[in-house]
Amino acid sequence: MTTYIPITSPGRRRVLRRVAELSAAAGGLLLPFAATVHAAGSPRFAITDTDFTLDGQRLQIRCGEMHFARVPREYWGHRLKAMKAMGLNTVCAYLFWNYHEWREGKYDWAGQRDAAEFCRLAQQEGLWVILRPGPYACAEWEMGGLPWWLLKHPGDSFLRTRDAAFMAPAQRWMKEVGRVLGQQQITHGGPILMVQVENEYGFFGEDLDYMRAMRQVLIDGGFDVPLFQCNPTNAVVKTHIKELFSVANFGSDPAAGFKALDQVQKGPRMCGEYYSGWFDTWGSPHKRGPADRAVADIQNMLKMNGSFSLYMAHGGTSFGLWGGCDRPFRPDTSSYDYDAPISEAGWMGEKFQAYRNGIKPFLLPGETLPPAPAHNPVIAIAPFSFKQSASVFAALPPKVIKAVSPQPLEAYDISRGIVSYRITLPAGPAATLEAAKVRDLAWVYVDGKLAGTLDTRYRRFKVDLPARSKPVTLEILLYTIARVNFGVEIHDRKGMHGPVTLAGQPLENWDIRAIDFDADAVLPPLAWKTGRTAGPAFWRASVDVATTGDTFLDMSSWGQGIVWVNGRCLGRYWSIGPTQTMYLPGPWLKRGANEVIVLDLTGPQVARSAGLKTPVLDQLKPDRDLPRPPSTARAQLDGVKPVHEGEFQRGAATQDVMFAQPATGRQFCLESLDAFDGKQFAAIAELALLGPDGKTLNQSNWTIAFVDSEEVSKEDGGALNAINGQNTDHWHTAYSGKARTTAHPHRIIIDLGKTDTVAGMRYTPRQGPEGVTGRIRHYRAYVGDKLVVDR
Ligand code: GLA
Repeated sequence: MTTYIPITSPGRRRVLRRVAELSAAAGGLLLPFAATVHAAGSPRFAITDTDFTLDGQRLQIRCGEMHFARVPREYWGHRLKAMKAMGLNTVCAYLFWNYHEWREGKYDWAGQRDAAEFCRLAQQEGLWVILRPGPYACAEWEMGGLPWWLLKHPGDSFLRTRDAAFMAPAQRWMKEVGRVLGQQQITHGGPILMVQVENEYGFFGEDLDYMRAMRQVLIDGGFDVPLFQCNPTNAVVKTHIKELFSVANFGSDPAAGFKALDQVQKGPRMCGEYYSGWFDTWGSPHKRGPADRAVADIQNMLKMNGSFSLYMAHGGTSFGLWGGCDRPFRPDTSSYDYDAPISEAGWMGEKFQAYRNGIKPFLLPGETLPPAPAHNPVIAIAPFSFKQSASVFAALPPKVIKAVSPQPLEAYDISRGIVSYRITLPAGPAATLEAAKVRDLAWVYVDGKLAGTLDTRYRRFKVDLPARSKPVTLEILLYTIARVNFGVEIHDRKGMHGPVTLAGQPLENWDIRAIDFDADAVLPPLAWKTGRTAGPAFWRASVDVATTGDTFLDMSSWGQGIVWVNGRCLGRYWSIGPTQTMYLPGPWLKRGANEVIVLDLTGPQVARSAGLKTPVLDQLKPDRDLPRPPSTARAQLDGVKPVHEGEFQRGAATQDVMFAQPATGRQFCLESLDAFDGKQFAAIAELALLGPDGKTLNQSNWTIAFVDSEEVSKEDGGALNAINGQNTDHWHTAYSGKARTTAHPHRIIIDLGKTDTVAGMRYTPRQGPEGVTGRIRHYRAYVGDKLVVDR
């Protein structure tokens, strides 16, 4: 058995049963994949019991991921050439459903969205294509690629299920994809070899009939090449169905990934996503992926006759407002550089060379490596000032939505943007204003004066208001950042959710006005004035350039907001970092005057910028964040009886532990008593909790209530990593500087956001080779209501 080994016997029985089922379905043996699925229609490309074949010859797929939505169209050809020169023969591309259908029933495939043209270009460059049309993608993209309007339907568990509210629109989408891209399949003379169904469903659900239904949706859409699914190594066995070819996603230990595949099918082994680096979220350190480790893993896969797809070969930029958000709420940076071998601006540096040299010995007969294309020109732009500004309040449209109690924005057909909620308050004593929920950030003004901020990162939904001697206008200005793209938390409705109360009494009859940025961040009409506007404002500058070229706009003196150049939205910035610059592609500039517009919600330190010749991707500035009340939390476990004590299994496997009795409470604490390597540190890749039905609890309201130590400078070892659903990152206690920990126990306490019943937990140790630091051995678990107290 490989990695998904629940400790408890019911879990283990379930996995063994799955393997037995699969084997029985194959007549007692694991049959070659091609023998177990509907005949894939291509005489050219096939999957045999050992290989992918092209025209009868063995094809080792050396693929790299690139999302055309994240690369200026003018540069698609350049990046594809770079991929080819790195030694790849295939490009893998997600389609993001919401990018093409932001408004229900209105499809857009023009310009930057021209997926068919992207396929044609790939073919021209001699690359095959693997298409991943969803309907769900993930990919640190707004809502994982699902359209926001699906959330007009009520409920928190219908997305990515067989519910008609999801299946019917998904089916329409796939028909549309088939219409536009069907002809690009190899079966029709195009470059598309294979098409992926869904994405890492094993991370999300258990309903294998959903995967079968979704497969049928693709077939009905006109796809006749082999269909496959991808899952993290840990979930391959439980999610495999014989109708779909399986590939495994991982960033380390190819042998384990391939072994999981061997358990479920006889066929070529492929890594569907090999992580060359990792994505960044605002406020956390910039991530890097070492080249030597990656090259060793790639060569291993190739030696094992394996195929792979690099995630990412070229990450690019989440331009516009398309960046996604990790759960519970950690929005992704606009830069999607990913520390990929081909950088955000298409540069091919040492990492690229290392990959290219590593792949070169494995070329197939007749293949040669073309030279790398030249870098595109880079320019510097001398510092320039923003001389004009326009108040955000003045830019709000006249149209008012009347609401007794505010509903989520989707209910008002508002997709994303800036929203004002206004109400008159009578005279009265100081009191606390509280909303049921606020997504994402909001500034609370009383008669134009800032009274406080609401911040979903900390579930801070309250603000203390001063006493009022006369009626006042309360105005709440809300900014949506991004919908969560991972887990059941994708049911992420934006805006201020009522009831909103003052001193516990409901506040009713609100006036709501919104700047809906819509699909492409359209700017509202703006009334410019010369000079500075206090508070949230748009700013405008005119910049002359003599020759165009790529540049990186320096945003380090700004607060938080969005940037447009010549009407094109470059994305969001946030001075907390780690990204301090915005990639501005040369083709989006023109010779002569260029208009730069910045929306800043908190106001710049200095309203200036400049074009730099290199990006700044790794500078955190926590002091520039919105005010956050100091944490005075302390763990209080004295006299509290653990719900469970035990010893984890050695190794990297995900492990389910059921408690003797379910326990009810608002907080959950895991306490480490020692580690397998005997050292003082603790680490956790992922911690999920199981309800009495054995299913994982919804984590959308979770926050970290307390952690005794986190490594935040040498790496991103923040505690949130233990509950963000990603196995590849982790919480790690501090090992650098003064904060370095000296001994166990270590404690991580989760605030569940509401009282919940916890019957067990699913623990994923820090991933990596045997002996990696921080794998907890003995532990205790606690459930309670007062595990955390104020100092
Ligand atoms: C998963 C998903 C990808 C992406 C990566 C992280 O593996 O399949 O879409 O989100 O995680 O970058």
